[in-house]
Amino acid sequence: MLSVAIDGPAGVGKSTVSKLVAKSLGWHCLDTGALYRAIAVACSRAKIDIKDIEQVKNLLSKIKIDVKFLDGVQHTYLNGEDVSPYLRTEEMDMLSSVTSAYREVRESIIDLQRELARKENLVVEGRDITSNVLKDSKNKFFLDASPEERAKRRYKERIDRGEKVEYKEIYDDIIERDKNDTTRKVAPLVCTKDSIKIDTTNLTINEVVEEILKNIKLD
Ligand code: DC
Repeated sequence: MLSVAIDGPAGVGKSTVSKLVAKSLGWHCLDTGALYRAIAVACSRAKIDIKDIEQVKNLLSKIKIDVKFLDGVQHTYLNGEDVSPYLRTEEMDMLSSVTSAYREVRESIIDLQRELARKENLVVEGRDITSNVLKDSKNKFFLDASPEERAKRRYKERIDRGEKVEYKEIYDDIIERDKNDTTRKVAPLVCTKDSIKIDTTNLTINEVVEEILKNIKLD
């Protein structure tokens, strides 16, 4: 099976770009952040102390994360319940950012990610896809943009959705998540040598998509 692996920091536009790349190829797109967020939902509901690895490990032994594509759209399941509507909140931003640093959390969903990519041609986006999950992929991309630009994009997205937010809060959140993603010991966010790095700061979404499509090898 073929894959396109796309990594990059929070707020860089990976999800939007990856979905458009997948659409253009006629493939599905796997948002791996959703899996970490589903685990975060489980932590939140169980009211565990996420700083305590024993509590997190105990919870992991009781949960099953799964993914299905329905009409081309990813649905993410926690113990059989579709938790997709609960994943994109500030609470899950922070909980998933902390819990994704645990080796046990990462290991609990690595087989699922690889299994999905074995079954069909897939665009997969996250933080460790190029460096770990799909190391052998022939199509690896790393999207980047300055923290200011990423915060500006997130701010606009939320304001457009009618939310009341402060730019400074969003900027601080991006800086904090960058720190967690790049400094964790297990599978930190890195741009691998064999990835094509795209600085998206001054590019439109379509220009980024075009750049990726231009460089994909399908043989
Ligand atoms: O992409 P996202 O913001 O939905 O990801 C949520 C969290 O999960 C983020 O803090 C980083 C983590 N993550 C990860 O560690 N590895 C991945 N492949 C995807 C996400």
